[in-house]
Amino acid sequence: MGDVEAVKKIFTENCVQCHTVEKGGKHKTGPSLWDLFWKKTGQAPGYSFSDANKNKGIIWGEETLMEYLENPKKYIPGTKMVFAGLRKKSGRKKLIQYLKQATSCNLENISYKPKFSNIKYCMFK
Ligand code: HEC
Repeated sequence: MGDVEAVKKIFTENCVQCHTVEKGGKHKTGPSLWDLFWKKTGQAPGYSFSDANKNKGIIWGEETLMEYLENPKKYIPGTKMVFAGLRKKSGRKKLIQYLKQATSCNLENISYKPKFSNIKYCMFK
């Protein structure tokens, strides 16, 4: 299993039941995560966020996601996201690298998939 598949698996096992990442992806129980990075909380158009999530008011990036995904209810008390958190720091780091790319470009259209350590924030929206 390559690096890309390994990190995708973390998303598949923990998040895909409630979230999509691709452009135009549907809202499920949770909002579509497309275009998540460098935006304030609760911005996905057409999704009804809780006040707690909307009013958190931080910008989503590596550091805020690292803290949020460890224990969502602690970071955003009153969130309606029912997810206990990913305790392993290494797993969260990898997942965030995946999210960074998957929520900002169409992975299906990229024929060359570099190793994750080389992946930068994808600007092809
Ligand atoms: C059982 C369903 C469920 C699971 C599993 C889940 N989420 Fe969520 N998520 C939600 C819901 C519902 C919200 C909206 C929270 C609110 O409005 O209070 C949310 C909100 C979020 C937000 C905030 C979005 C924003 O724009 O402010 C992020 C980021 C997020 N989830 C990421 C993840 C990731 C990454 C995983 C996997 C590690 C995950 N979620 C697992 C249901 C889920």
